[in-house]
Amino acid sequence: MKKILANDGIDKIGKELLEKSGFNVSTEKITQEQLIDEINEKNYTVLIVRSATKVRKDIIDACPNLKIIARGGVGMDNIDVEYAKQKGIQVINTPAASSHSVAELVFAHLFSLSRFLHISNRDMPTKGSSQFNELKKNYTNGIELSGKTIGIIGFGRIGQEVAKIAVAMQMKVLAYDPYVTSSVLNINLSAIDHSFDVEIKTVSFEEVLKSSDFITMHVPGGSLITKKEIQMMRNGAIVINASRGGVIQEKDLLEALNSEKLAGAGLDVFEKEPTPMKELLNHPKISVTPHTGAATIEAQQRIAIELSEKIIQTYSKLSVL
Ligand SMILES: NC(=O)c1ccc[n+]([C@@H]2O[C@H](COP(=O)([O-])OP(=O)(O)OC[C@H]3O[C@@H](n4cnc5c(N)ncnc54)[C@H](O)[C@@H]3O)[C@@H](O)[C@H]2O)c1
Repeated sequence: MKKILANDGIDKIGKELLEKSGFNVSTEKITQEQLIDEINEKNYTVLIVRSATKVRKDIIDACPNLKIIARGGVGMDNIDVEYAKQKGIQVINTPAASSHSVAELVFAHLFSLSRFLHISNRDMPTKGSSQFNELKKNYTNGIELSGKTIGIIGFGRIGQEVAKIAVAMQMKVLAYDPYVTSSVLNINLSAIDHSFDVEIKTVSFEEVLKSSDFITMHVPGGSLITKKEIQMMRNGAIVINASRGGVIQEKDLLEALNSEKLAGAGLDVFEKEPTPMKELLNHPKISVTPHTGAATIEAQQRIAIELSEKIIQTYSKLSVL
């Protein structure tokens, strides 16, 4: 029997696909400490994880029957990928399955910040009855997204999904990526059964910083936005980080919001998670989410389907099994 442990769960659509192909799939959550014993005792040959379960050298060394480590999602920080590969274990993931969900979260933050939804939702329950008109006055200077310029730093899978939504919303797109010079995006307006291609040529980092009303980060990591880069931005710009914590330096961001240089920030990721930074969480110009960029029902289903198909395909190629 081909046995899989999906230790951080898998959408039922993926479980069904795998079971139809003859796999036995357990979604029982095993603690990190018990994982080695459980994998060996139950003879699991495939381990499916998301970000919670860590698959380090100790597990790889102690579980010789493990043939595939499958990560539902993108980041593989929780897996010793190179070591696993050296030991002949196949490591697979689903890098594109959640890109659209992350891109939509960027716009959720942008809509929220540009019309003060985040702070209005915090204020209305306590002040909505007694100070309705004062609150109304506070939130009258909202802005539209259409017609504005969005700067995209990192023009890979998610950056390009952001651009597609922006184009459909009649925004101007400026993108920077040191490894991408241009990309042809297919904009599919399925409601009117029409699609068209748009070519976006990337521009310099400085151009994105200087000429964008909104700037969103979609890079693999690093410390890209510090005081210096913020100074180059338009006064009143709004920045979004749904990529990696630390891409925007939190201390410099707070300073720029407090000095009115920036009008707002949307953060899905933090330098430290959970973040101890109360000033970030409570700041009236910051819209926050707890690293939920990829967390939609649709993304979970796409992840489960793509991962199951890859496991079935990879397993069938492993002649040793
Ligand atoms: N918030 C979430 O829940 C969530 C979900 C999925 C992915 N992510 C994160 O989003 C980020 C982007 O993911 P992706 O799937 O689009 O990755 P991707 O690899 O498709 O794209 C990243 C792009 O960044 C570019 N890049 C690298 N260094 C750069 C730099 N210094 N300046 C500008 N561009 C640079 C690369 O050339 C690449 O095109 C990753 O950090 C990923 O971990 C977050």
